[in-house]
Amino acid sequence: MGRIINYKSNENEVYVEFENGKKLNIEIIDGGIVRIYEPYPNSDFSFAISEKPLGNVSYKINKTHYGIKILTSYLTIRVHDDGEVNFYDLNDALICKEFKGQRVSKDKEDLSILALEGHDANEQDNSHNISILKHINQDDVFYGLGDKTGFLNKKSYYYEMWNTDDPKPHVDCYKSLYKSIPFIICHGNHKPYGIFFDNTYKTFFDIGKENEYCLAIEADEGPYNYYFFAGDTIKDVIGLYTKLTGRCPLPQLWTLGYHQSRWSYENKEELLELTNNFRKYEIPCDTIHLDIDYMDGYRVFTYDDVKFKDMPNIIDSLSKDGFKIVTIIDPGVKVDKDYSIYKVGVENNRFAKTPEGEIYVNEVWPGESVYPTFTNEDTRNWWAQNTKFITSLGVKGIWNDMNEPASFKGPLPDDILFRGDHKNYQHKEIHNVYGHLMAKATYEGLKKHTGKRPFVITRACYAGSQKYTTAWTGDNHSIWAHLQMAIPQLCNLGLSGMPFVGTDVGGFGSDCTSELLIRWVQVGCFSPLFRNHAAKGTRRQEPWTFDQQCLDIYRKYVGLRYALLPYIYDLFVEHQNNGAPVMRPLMYNFENDKNTWELNDEFMVGDKILVAPII
Ligand code: GLC
Repeated sequence: MGRIINYKSNENEVYVEFENGKKLNIEIIDGGIVRIYEPYPNSDFSFAISEKPLGNVSYKINKTHYGIKILTSYLTIRVHDDGEVNFYDLNDALICKEFKGQRVSKDKEDLSILALEGHDANEQDNSHNISILKHINQDDVFYGLGDKTGFLNKKSYYYEMWNTDDPKPHVDCYKSLYKSIPFIICHGNHKPYGIFFDNTYKTFFDIGKENEYCLAIEADEGPYNYYFFAGDTIKDVIGLYTKLTGRCPLPQLWTLGYHQSRWSYENKEELLELTNNFRKYEIPCDTIHLDIDYMDGYRVFTYDDVKFKDMPNIIDSLSKDGFKIVTIIDPGVKVDKDYSIYKVGVENNRFAKTPEGEIYVNEVWPGESVYPTFTNEDTRNWWAQNTKFITSLGVKGIWNDMNEPASFKGPLPDDILFRGDHKNYQHKEIHNVYGHLMAKATYEGLKKHTGKRPFVITRACYAGSQKYTTAWTGDNHSIWAHLQMAIPQLCNLGLSGMPFVGTDVGGFGSDCTSELLIRWVQVGCFSPLFRNHAAKGTRRQEPWTFDQQCLDIYRKYVGLRYALLPYIYDLFVEHQNNGAPVMRPLMYNFENDKNTWELNDEFMVGDKILVAPII
């Protein structure tokens, strides 16, 4: 970039100009939160941040021999003549510096032979247009990044942020799953820090995989735009990140109870048999989820009046018996000229279009379907208005699924257009925020039509989704590996600002067994969102499906959950106050004890309960 040739400053921002014409802005949001970005159009807007929480923005700026030095109330930021930006505390102890070495590229081997046996022969492309490169120290460990598979510590792995619906069993080497939370925390022999790369295009995180000393956070498109958070503890770093991107509002108490789901409870009789069984077997249960089969031909905002005749009355009588109903709503709207949601959406330009201006059609559960433009306030308001149909049936919460968005006939092309509030977005720019915006619309609708704190559960997320919704980890399988993975996955979601999360207890795909269900409920009862859910065609896994021993143990652990509700509820208050996760890895509470840094099979619920389950 050459030398710094000029800099200007205002109340909370420093604008730096370099010899080669490049510009870098340093915005002080709070003593421990600074944003580093190259100017770009509409840079005040972020899908993740609803309001910038300006805190202590006072700072001093000095010219030095290497460039300029900015001192906030917590950080020292050194901006060098070549563009390097390094972070220190106020005693000049290094927190994070840029990686300056040579990134080693793998030898280019001919991998075509791999494809013959069906292996993935695609090499990872490690050249990107936008790169944030930070130096990794030997003892550093990394956390966060949302729902990625694998272990708690993300060091030595490579991930991509691109919301992905893949029903095959999720394994450690998966690059992406349903959520894109481009926030990473680094802990080591220095003050902990976090980086949030607020770029909604596909982004890439190489955490010392290519070069053990290099953390590479990259993209090919979108802005060079990241937030740096530093604090005395990891708790502080997450507190600052959630101060910026928002926190999960205190949920209604019943949502913290036990939830039962299956794809699907197909009709009124099956539903009533289910709820009767909970009473018969004396297992507490607050919530039943109705999956896609309650709808009329998978048309969202309808119900099947034959299978669920008299739906409002059924829901009303279940509610008198203490059960709440949550129904699924997917984004895909069935192409059907006699269906009002489709018709109104078309008439008001609320579906995504091809560059040629035709409504874009792909396929999901209802067959040919179109995609609402949640990027647009008018569409979000319309969607929120439609939730009235659901709440007027007596439904208490909405489950948003398939909102990556999923598509059965190949991925949505990059250039499909989504009408936005400020501009039209290409799919590639808003893919990762589609689920986030759908959850936002659902949240607004529930809030308006129930007057209660909304209960939304979503599969796809972006940074900041915790403001609107809870989340589950999607289509896991009834396999021991996925019970094991549940712990680091849920802990990392908590560290990524999302406290209200859970896995499908018992596993979604494949067949559960008695022992696996027992071991899973022992983890599930401590996870913030506690829902048993399974796929069509798999062995049933309601608590009474297996033997007496399983039933008794299941009852005991659901009972334990209910006994702990006041404690868990308090933890959500704590989250609201300081962003603390409810389910936490041990390192969150004991970060100075290195033995906790890589514990994958134990966790804390708050700071008073340590759970060491058999997995
Ligand atoms: C997706 C969801 C799953 C749901 C199914 C049918 O696979 O992840 O939870 O049961 O769709 O709606």
